[in-house]
Amino acid sequence: MNSNNICIVNHPLCSHNLSIIRDKNTTAEVFRSAIKRITYLLFYKATEDLELEEIEVQTPLEKCKSKILNRKNEIIIAPILRAGLIFSDIANEIIPYATVRHIGMYRDEETLTPIWYYNKIPVEFDNPENKIILILDPMLATGNSAIDAIRLFTNKKVPQKNIRFVSLISAPEGLEKVTNAFPDIKIVTASIDNCLNEFGYIRPGLGDAGDRIFNTVEK
Ligand code: URA
Repeated sequence: MNSNNICIVNHPLCSHNLSIIRDKNTTAEVFRSAIKRITYLLFYKATEDLELEEIEVQTPLEKCKSKILNRKNEIIIAPILRAGLIFSDIANEIIPYATVRHIGMYRDEETLTPIWYYNKIPVEFDNPENKIILILDPMLATGNSAIDAIRLFTNKKVPQKNIRFVSLISAPEGLEKVTNAFPDIKIVTASIDNCLNEFGYIRPGLGDAGDRIFNTVEK
């Protein structure tokens, strides 16, 4: 596996909140709030190398040089529905001028392959080299939907180095597949778990993230 571009956010607050969300007795309300706290830490890492440009600002006292995000770049937040929505509100709060482009796919439970039902990505991008893409999905499991989502952007000539995949928990099998297919994208995750089970769920993981976020776990 090309692990150069895999960043594990190994922060005490991530570990603490991961323990909360792994617990099967955690309610949906507490589950969502713990994920939101982790999201800030993931995004701190996922955005730490954004390009800056220098500007001049007039403070109440004097003029000074200051830095802002480079205006030639467009930041695109791309949550994979439905679980990725838990990340996108916070991503949009910290980068309010970003564009949000939803990707709709669900997993065929038998073949474990992604089925598309929606995407809000234009047919072509102007200046694809100036797009910075943050693809959001809490669970990087088999890697199949991650690969399809990344390909949506690389097919439109966005360079791999401009793409960041943000997940809470990743499986080694999925990471291997994604990094082999796209060695130059950056993956930010809070944990690499042990393995997948026969149904493509991450072990120990946290179960079905979408069901736990939206309180649709069948009792
Ligand atoms: N999707 C989930 O929500 N959980 C898993 O463990 C794998 C994929």
